[in-house]
Amino acid sequence: MSRMNDVLSPLAFSNGVLSLLDQRRLPTEEVWIDYRDYREVAAAIRDMVVRGAPAIGCTAAYGVAIGAMQQAPFDEVCEALAATRPTAINLFWAIERMKQVVPRTPLALARAAIALHEDDIASCRAIGKNGAALLPAGRVLTHCNAGALATGGYGTALGVIRAAVESGTALAVYADETRPFLQGARLTAWELQRSGIPTTLITDNMAGHFMAKGAIQSVVVGADRIAANGDTANKIGTFTVAVLAREHNIPFFVAAPLSTIDRAIPDGTHIPIEERSPREVTHIGPLQVAPDGIAVANPAFDVTPARLITAIITEAGVARPPYRDSLAALFS
Ligand code: MRU
Repeated sequence: MSRMNDVLSPLAFSNGVLSLLDQRRLPTEEVWIDYRDYREVAAAIRDMVVRGAPAIGCTAAYGVAIGAMQQAPFDEVCEALAATRPTAINLFWAIERMKQVVPRTPLALARAAIALHEDDIASCRAIGKNGAALLPAGRVLTHCNAGALATGGYGTALGVIRAAVESGTALAVYADETRPFLQGARLTAWELQRSGIPTTLITDNMAGHFMAKGAIQSVVVGADRIAANGDTANKIGTFTVAVLAREHNIPFFVAAPLSTIDRAIPDGTHIPIEERSPREVTHIGPLQVAPDGIAVANPAFDVTPARLITAIITEAGVARPPYRDSLAALFS
């Protein structure tokens, strides 16, 4: 990974070129791809070279700057980047922030994208600081990857785990593998192993077993979009984990920057859920695991109702139920 403001980052920008760590090839290969064309940046978001709500926001911001360097029409650039993935609000938030830049020169837009990236890292650090004390010693379960790889750097859910470990909490992680795209097995396991945080990889259907045995003391996940009432869209399977956590009286935390909160929608029913290729379900990498012609559903995200969420940890503070009031207060 590259270094930005003292943390590891999956994206780097230098001399007008955006470099992305190709997350499709982790954990076995660490390959960086250079981008000089905004259309290719859009394709990188769509094809999951880069993924994770804050990371795709940062990438889109750099994409806007690159489009300006190419002298492409500003609105076309923004539209192409916005048309990549529908669920994570950070993508649209970042493009909106870039639209506010004056003047819309390549230099000003590049500076704004770098500032947005730096702000995201600062937010992740603050989320970590605000959430660290909430995690009890023992084992924490996480789902998908909400780490340095999914953000400008440091991570949201994994930022809280990092900060807890840095503050001396004796913590080990259970990482759900996160079918079908395996962000847990491929990315979270890789990232935490590199950070020296003790981690046990489990398949998604093992979480209930370990909770029932008393092996899990808390859950922390990231978010792709949080509605005004606290309903939270995150990687498919998050809802199941939240139900299991409630059954076992285990606190369930969401960690996300304010840029993930969509105050324009009252609840989670308004969150668009991305449907991805059936191939992600019928195949694991190149290996076919289902018969030809089988019908497949592949929603990439689900919505965890606010009532199952113990607290939402942001850079501005920790929101507790009722979220309509506590989230609104974080913005004031
Ligand atoms: O499809 P992905 O890999 O982009 O989904 C990522 C997640 O669901 C993350 O948990 C979420 O974006 C938070 S990342 C800090």
